[in-house]
Amino acid sequence: MPKKAQPPEAPVDAHIEALDWYETPHYYDIIFDPDTDAELNFLEAALERYSLSPGKRVLEPACGSGRLVQGMVERGYAVTGTDLSKAMLKYTRARLKDAGLKARLVASDMSEAPPKGPYDLAHCLVSTFKYLQTEKAALSHLQGVCDALAPGGIYCLGFHLTDYDIDHEDLEHWEQDRDGMKVTCSIRTWPPNAKRRLEPVRSSITVEENGRTRRTQTDWKFRTYNSDQFRKLLKKVPGFELVCTHDFEYDIDECFDLNDNQYDVLVVLRKRQT
Ligand SMILES: C[S@@+](CC[C@H](N)C(=O)[O-])C[C@H]1O[C@@H](n2cnc3c(N)ncnc32)[C@H](O)[C@@H]1O
Repeated sequence: MPKKAQPPEAPVDAHIEALDWYETPHYYDIIFDPDTDAELNFLEAALERYSLSPGKRVLEPACGSGRLVQGMVERGYAVTGTDLSKAMLKYTRARLKDAGLKARLVASDMSEAPPKGPYDLAHCLVSTFKYLQTEKAALSHLQGVCDALAPGGIYCLGFHLTDYDIDHEDLEHWEQDRDGMKVTCSIRTWPPNAKRRLEPVRSSITVEENGRTRRTQTDWKFRTYNSDQFRKLLKKVPGFELVCTHDFEYDIDECFDLNDNQYDVLVVLRKRQT
């Protein structure tokens, strides 16, 4: 887990840039680095434990900075990654080139059909799925991934469930260092609009390097799910069965039933074989 720290005071010399934080892939990559090995280990273990389609073909919709693309390629998988952000794809291409590795990278919206499979494993972690703000887009995504999997293949989908009774804002805060750069990230979530199924989210990033400070801020809305709402959506994709639910501890031996007692869930969906 990222190191927890107290939120800092905004530095006096800093000004805040309103920016899509995916326009700065390097900062994103540094911030989300700490869990990468645990995620990769989990994905491999899930493939071994749950998939009925033995193979090494992997799809990552919305692959971002490519931290998991690179990790899976290094572990011997044939990876296809997609993303909407040109900056993220460019960063992923560059890191693969630097490492002498290859993957198939495609610019596409994850609400549309993924590049042609079949795949043995698909994964989409850290709530990325919640960017799909409508039922139609979420359904189209799940159906597209299901269609692209080989029979018996699995989809590992990690996201935060929403508690509709919550009446206060929530703050997650951590910092990471790399190459003399200190990156601090705060993610603030406000109470959801239960009717519209949307929750406001703000990420604030502070980067300190060579005595200079840069602050950026991004606002967006996530689609919300409680466990029943996710189950209802899943019922509309009969090709998928829910095999097991884990959490963001990425412990393959800690498995539970999907319910609202858990805030972060990692569901393992398997494509039925008939
Ligand atoms: C939280 S990052 C996750 C990146 C990566 N999967 C990881 O775990 O590091 C979310 C990514 O989703 C991408 N994204 C958001 N909406 C998208 C959409 N509709 N289709 C494709 N990519 C999208 C963003 O550009 C960003 O790179």
